[in-house]
Amino acid sequence: MQSVSGGPRLLWSSLRRVAVIFREGLEPNRRLHFLYRQTRSKRQHFRVVKTSTALHLLHTCRLATFHTPKLVRSVSTLLARNFSTMPEKREFKRLPTDVVPSNYNIRLKPDLDAFVFQGQEEIDVEVKASTDTVTVNSLDITINEVTYASGDTSVAAEVSVDKEAETATFKFPSALQPGKGVLKVSYTGELNDKMKGFYRSKYTMPDGQERFGAVTQFEATDARRAFPGWDEPAVKASFDVTLVVPKEKVALSNMPVKSDTPDKDPNWRVVEYDRTPVMSTYLLAFIVGDYDYVEGKDADGVVLRVYTPVGKKEQGNFALDVAVKTLPFYKDYFGIPYPLPKMDLIAIADFASGAMENWGLVTYRETALLVDPANTSARVKQWVALVVGHELAHQWFGNLVTMEWWTNLWLNEGFASWIEYLCVDECFPEYDIWTQFVNMDLGRALELDALHTSHPIEVPVGHPAEVDEIFDAISYSKGASVIRMLHDYLGNEDFRKGMNKYLTQHQYKNTVTEDLWVSLGEASGKPVAKMMDTWTKQMGFPVIKVSERQDGDKRILTISQEKFCADGKLPAGDKSSWLVPISFSTAGSPTTPVKTIMLEGQSSEVTLDNVKAGEWVKVNTNTVGVYRVQYTTEMLAALIPAVKDRSLPPRDRLGLQNDLFALARAGMAASEDVLKVAEAFINEDNYTVWNDLALNLSSMAVLLQYTDCYDLYKAFARDLFSQVAKTVGWDKKEGESQLTAMLRDLILTKMGRYGDEPTVAEARKRFESHYKGDNVISPDLRAPVFITVLSQGKSEDFDKMLELYDKADMQEEKSRIGRALGAVKDEELIKRVHEFAMTDKVRAQDTVFVLAGATGSAKGRELTWSFVKENWKEMHERYHSFLLARLVKSSTENFATEEMAQAVEEFFKANPAPAAERTVQQSVENIRLNARWMKESADKVCQFLKSRK
Ligand code: BES
Ligand code: ZN
Repeated sequence: MQSVSGGPRLLWSSLRRVAVIFREGLEPNRRLHFLYRQTRSKRQHFRVVKTSTALHLLHTCRLATFHTPKLVRSVSTLLARNFSTMPEKREFKRLPTDVVPSNYNIRLKPDLDAFVFQGQEEIDVEVKASTDTVTVNSLDITINEVTYASGDTSVAAEVSVDKEAETATFKFPSALQPGKGVLKVSYTGELNDKMKGFYRSKYTMPDGQERFGAVTQFEATDARRAFPGWDEPAVKASFDVTLVVPKEKVALSNMPVKSDTPDKDPNWRVVEYDRTPVMSTYLLAFIVGDYDYVEGKDADGVVLRVYTPVGKKEQGNFALDVAVKTLPFYKDYFGIPYPLPKMDLIAIADFASGAMENWGLVTYRETALLVDPANTSARVKQWVALVVGHELAHQWFGNLVTMEWWTNLWLNEGFASWIEYLCVDECFPEYDIWTQFVNMDLGRALELDALHTSHPIEVPVGHPAEVDEIFDAISYSKGASVIRMLHDYLGNEDFRKGMNKYLTQHQYKNTVTEDLWVSLGEASGKPVAKMMDTWTKQMGFPVIKVSERQDGDKRILTISQEKFCADGKLPAGDKSSWLVPISFSTAGSPTTPVKTIMLEGQSSEVTLDNVKAGEWVKVNTNTVGVYRVQYTTEMLAALIPAVKDRSLPPRDRLGLQNDLFALARAGMAASEDVLKVAEAFINEDNYTVWNDLALNLSSMAVLLQYTDCYDLYKAFARDLFSQVAKTVGWDKKEGESQLTAMLRDLILTKMGRYGDEPTVAEARKRFESHYKGDNVISPDLRAPVFITVLSQGKSEDFDKMLELYDKADMQEEKSRIGRALGAVKDEELIKRVHEFAMTDKVRAQDTVFVLAGATGSAKGRELTWSFVKENWKEMHERYHSFLLARLVKSSTENFATEEMAQAVEEFFKANPAPAAERTVQQSVENIRLNARWMKESADKVCQFLKSRK
């Protein structure tokens, strides 16, 4: 029954999303195409949909005027044929607003042995309209007693629970009258092991003893697992928190301690915290456990602490330094002081995401906070800086001003994902972090958003499963990318002024996207909303096609836009169009644009003065725009020498090759030509450019593994990397930059993976000595050495690696080894990786990464997919929904046949993936793209590779 009831619900939610998109802004013809696609992809699959749903959708369609009667007919037929008997699906509803909270007084007593907690709340409420029922969110909680007191009278309520809606309803014998009162609730809950709500986390003390602590993760919709209440971001209130805890434990919440006194029971104490400002429920946090900390003060006297596992407080110093600099940086940037008296950052042993911005008490994975100079790689250190920068930005953008509903989640995450770079650039200019943005965020966004199964930045969501689904690369990376483009268009000063306006005007309140556009528009006098609507309400982005002619010393460019599709196939009738700021640089002015325009319509002509014949012109200076560029052959040819001699700046070099690989995949450029362009990067010296190019080469490697010219391709890649490999060498040079360390890590990993003999030999040598403890490998060389050794390895190497895993005392080291294990090629060893991933040696938060590590080779991919299928039920129960979404992606998207596309589709029809419905669709689309590439391009690439030697 599971599949039958799960199916239509997922279907219903996606169709409903479609309906809203229809209403809100697509061209009529596109609406129909959209619906047609959705309907067709669901065929065979869900035969049980209620007719009214289909009719409703069809009606929504008809409200618009269609121009293609044939499509209308196809859609009607498909709907009628496939969706005839859907069971009634309840519409998601937000909580009633006739009773609203103003303050919660919450007292919690967690039992760290029995894994339960007792809770009591007194909620100050206002009854706005007379009613005899109060409905609040509540999940997996047993409510023992509810009363409502107003004046001298107190009445008890009957409680009923609606599990699917995640609510509890209190029914009173008579209507509560408008006015103020106090709702008292006593309840018990479980300290669960799901890494959500109020949950338990296992850690090891210095003497090896294992213990449990209690911690929280409430975003998006899990505060309701810790206390009954109005668990919606727009229902803000203040909180008085009291924790009753075992007497020797550290106990933390958002605010400073108000009082800390012994309990009646001498084994417990009672810790009361100051009242919080008015805030959303998802930002509350409670933590009880054993921790050490380091402390600092920022320039404004705010006390900051970084809490670490016991005995490891030095590992908090790096994050503390970053945080101490970051708070004042944001204060200046936003023009608003940090609103709370203290700021704690804490590493939690079991943690599903990377970090969480609870106001005044930010929680992190250990690998996103702890830095040990002897064991932490440059890459992880940089990651810690970015994550700290991200979460502290939320203290203003997200916590002080909060999105009105999850539909606007991107506001939070897109913005923080942009400003984390601004902050890291301020603290560590030597990281050249903005260049890395182009690889880590823009690149990711463009890749995903070119799919037909992508979605607009702003997407209507209701039920929690839908909310979980939008914590994705569109909200984060595309969100950050469109903010970066806007920031560039407005200029830093106007942007900053606008931010201050926005945060000041809406502090302690909630907003929608338009509010931000209004503030930025007022500050800059530019048509922000008009431009940005085209980026947030419409999915996808354009490809800018450009051609040129010379007229004396003028270069006249013709540019045009159309939606870029990963398969190169624009759906018929697609009229998507964006307001695109486009900049141009030239050989004479490589870093500063010689001209910037706003492309409004379909095409335009642009004249550049003083550009000599033959001089290169680069479109999208600094790769700041959210689009791809397709040049004519001649324009591209003129750019190649500038790649070779690196007179084209790094971000432009990066963007150029990235666009070319995407165009090749879309069939809009020849893959073998793109490989020729790749050869022009032989003199490349920039870490980030290499990183991006290496990633693109890997995507092609994944597919060429299915051909007989994979060895030739490996040789091609080795040739390309060989020069830079010589330059970076194996050993750190005195005074070298962090980026050089990261470049070495990258290049040696690639040389190892592509089977370079000298690299393999050296890696083996160093590994033996590391294993024996003679010569410990520096943290930046560990990943390349582990991966290289394992990829050639036998079971002895594998055993040694597991031994190192067991000995490792830092999560970073375990995770490094865990992710490397899958590099093994041998079938038996791959199976051992799978088994290992599911043992309790690997925390639930890390399993999917260990499994993903095994999907790099064709064999590993096939075996891992089988393993996932066989264990799906267990995984489904054990792992967090967004971790499962990652597993779905990594274990499926690199297949390359139509049969596999269908097999994956079928499997998830029968076994729905929670919060990963869209990920499944995207994977299937990717598989089909791969299959097409194999058919159309693989032979030509092989010919090219053969002709090289
Ligand atoms: N608000 C999120 C944490 C979160 C993620 C809650 C998913 C619920 C579901 C936090 O601000 C965040 O974005 N964390 C990122 C790290 C960040 C540096 C991109 C994460 O956890 O990946
Ligand atoms: Zn965030």
